[in-house]
Amino acid sequence: LGAPGSPLIAFEAGAGPLYRQIYAGYRAAILEGRLRPGERVPSSRALARELGISRLPVLNAFEQLLHEGYLEGRGGSGTYVAALVPVRGGAGGPSAAMARVPADAPGAQQAAAHAPPAPTEHAAFRVSLPALERFPRATWARLVARNVRNMPLSAMAYGDPAGEPALREAIAAYLRSARAVRCEASQVLVLPGSQMALQLCARVLLQPGDRVCIEEPGYPGAHQAFGAAGAKLHPVPVDAHGLVVEALAPASRAVYVTPSHQYPLGVSMHAARRLALLAWARQHRAWIVEDDYDSDFRYASRPLGSLQGMQHGANVIYVGSFSKVLFPALRIGYLVVPPELARRFVEERSALDLFSPTLHQLALCDFLREGHFVRHVRRMRSVYRARRDALVEAIGTRLGTQLQIVNSDAGMHLAAWLPPAVDDLAVVRCAAKRGVSATALSTCHAGNAPRSGLVLGFSGAAEAEIERAVGMLAEAIAECTIPNRPRRASRNPPHRASENVL
Ligand SMILES: Cc1ncc(COP(=O)(O)O)c(C=O)c1O
Repeated sequence: LGAPGSPLIAFEAGAGPLYRQIYAGYRAAILEGRLRPGERVPSSRALARELGISRLPVLNAFEQLLHEGYLEGRGGSGTYVAALVPVRGGAGGPSAAMARVPADAPGAQQAAAHAPPAPTEHAAFRVSLPALERFPRATWARLVARNVRNMPLSAMAYGDPAGEPALREAIAAYLRSARAVRCEASQVLVLPGSQMALQLCARVLLQPGDRVCIEEPGYPGAHQAFGAAGAKLHPVPVDAHGLVVEALAPASRAVYVTPSHQYPLGVSMHAARRLALLAWARQHRAWIVEDDYDSDFRYASRPLGSLQGMQHGANVIYVGSFSKVLFPALRIGYLVVPPELARRFVEERSALDLFSPTLHQLALCDFLREGHFVRHVRRMRSVYRARRDALVEAIGTRLGTQLQIVNSDAGMHLAAWLPPAVDDLAVVRCAAKRGVSATALSTCHAGNAPRSGLVLGFSGAAEAEIERAVGMLAEAIAECTIPNRPRRASRNPPHRASENVL
């Protein structure tokens, strides 16, 4: 193809589903300026005819490109390339000189101002808890046992600090196809979770006193990792399209973002905002740390492409984890770093801990390569969608006036605002007394929280339990509401899943 509005799309056998190849072809053509803002793209019917395929993959690809903001529909007049801020692709990667010497004197600055009440560990609505009972244990046991039996003696000795080479290959292949990450196995480091990944970023990229921009509200784990390395945290507000790029502080060394699914509010960053962030980072010679912690689970569209993959040589460090998609006790996460920094990261990793346990890396590698992973993700997507629906509906019927859902399009949790007079820490304590776990939104703020709210995980509890726990939560909120009298259950209609009230 090469007609106006059509990039060259050469389908490759084994390069993934057709819709994904069309999506990738268009995304690359738009980002590289081969398709310009305002250019009209062919109708799905015409493109399908030209490509000699059915219309469905084309429709799926266009739907995703529209959702991510690369294309825009104009009423009845067709579909056009969206007006994105152009970013000049730089030659070569980010300079290794931008990396810093290790922070050998970890600073004392702790980000989290409030000590959160102890969570009720396994109850609804514990955040970050997968449907553990649905994990294919028998398959996992088989793969672990097989690897124990077959492990050569060399695999029982000291392992590679960067991770088992076969697992690094499998992760790189998955990230290239499922997340549009630009990477080779040599850029992947296997680590015991994203918490160490963030610590490592701090050790390699920062010196004590460096400024790091963080999302406000944001992920307390990131505040802790960067704060403990002596960074000065600069909170940047988040709106309905994610981090507000214009509010980034100049002279920052790094910015931590969750663009696919902002933690905790749940919004996703549109293409134009992503390009603005990449341009900002290039201009200010700052690093972007992209935490893509739960992006396999989207209910309103397919998983979004990564920020890392949008531009060749972008200054992005990509962080991922198997904690949510498989189970947290596995303690396997990973980093994708620019090639010129790989050695530095591996050196620092060895300084923190020599290497990750080999046995579970080998079992995970088989789990990925033999298709169990993709199957599990597919199953969990529908399990979590049903749990999300149950929570949204129960909130609508029981708590419609007291809890306003921010966004529930994706992930394993949702955030919801409480009425202004209600203290979220008090609600969390009252809920814990009733055996219900919730996280106070105020604990995700590095500064003062302007609004109180709750972060509710829905993935770890079945629908019936969710319904029951929403009843308990309603009681807890009523107990903490001034004047202190119980409210009647609301009869308001449920929030729509895609409702966005930021
Ligand atoms: C924003 C975010 N990043 C990363 C993680 C995963 O952390 P880890 O891989 O250390 O278990 C979580 C889990 O709660 C999270 O919420």
